[in-house]
Amino acid sequence: MLTEKLARVSIAHLPTPLEPLPRLTAQLGGAELWIKRDDQTGLATGGNKARKLEFLVADALAQDADTLISGGAAQSNHARQTAAAAAKIGLACTLVLRSREPAQMRGNLLLDRLLGAEVVWAGDRPLAEGMAQVAEELRAAGRRPYVVPYGGSNPVGASGYVAAMEELVTQCARINCIRARDLHFDHVVLPSSSGGTQAGMAVGARALGYEGHILGISVDLAAGPLQRRLAGLATATADHLGLELAFAAEDFAIEDGYLGGGYGVVGELERTGMHTLARTEGVLLDPVYTGRAFGGLLDMMRRGVFGPGERVLFWHTGGTAGVFGYGEAVL
Ligand SMILES: Cc1ncc(COP(=O)(O)O)c(C=O)c1O
Repeated sequence: MLTEKLARVSIAHLPTPLEPLPRLTAQLGGAELWIKRDDQTGLATGGNKARKLEFLVADALAQDADTLISGGAAQSNHARQTAAAAAKIGLACTLVLRSREPAQMRGNLLLDRLLGAEVVWAGDRPLAEGMAQVAEELRAAGRRPYVVPYGGSNPVGASGYVAAMEELVTQCARINCIRARDLHFDHVVLPSSSGGTQAGMAVGARALGYEGHILGISVDLAAGPLQRRLAGLATATADHLGLELAFAAEDFAIEDGYLGGGYGVVGELERTGMHTLARTEGVLLDPVYTGRAFGGLLDMMRRGVFGPGERVLFWHTGGTAGVFGYGEAVL
């Protein structure tokens, strides 16, 4: 295993299901669509951060931490999964959330509170500054905080998606063996933001000789800055794993044509993505990440970006709790 030398706690439900989407494939009449269900990883409704937290929490325990600190938007899935991981392991958790307390406590924010996390509002300060200040205050009070970076996206967290790529390869091999078929994916499509998910996948794919084309649909950044971030993170992640692999910005395929009204603004694209998958396959997407990415994928299908003989895997990265944070905006 590529990650076998790293400390890891077992807090995610793995492997996640790998499923075909037959009704949607028939309805669209083009490439064959499949889904990887990382919305089923557990940790208070699931999502991609559970895989990263298996390594981040182990690192926190190795450093004898007693408190996890992290941050994000008010509806951050990462914050909610960090709170759940802390509760499961028996650590305290402080979340620094962007801006000010909203009028209504719902979705991920409601779950943060339910999970026992302390919530601090960053106000006008940048998140990193808010998290550093909270860490300083806790240290001064004799506590031992561990700062989980934004999105869990550093080499420790991204290692979770190196392992995930290995999981996918093993799963395909098993299906091929049991069912005597040739299951492989020409394209893997996922939402990309702080980059740990896609960078980890890229490291895993390169190390394993995986040939599928990985396409990140950007949720908030223009392609150039995201590709540069991914290259730096992937190279550092490979180094963390003792692999001699270097990545350049051009190694990452990013589609930034679906940024719509900006981060967290729900529009027709996101609604179409959410409605389509919910109503043909009974699978829920979130309005910020997977709804946007799946809406983009549907648009690319319509534009004939993927050939009829091809097989496309949508990597569902979770966020279901966010549905309840947006209410009727998703309808
Ligand atoms: C549901 C969901 N999908 C995708 C992402 C993006 O993953 P990454 O930040 O690793 O690029 C996030 C990040 O918060 C998320 O919550």
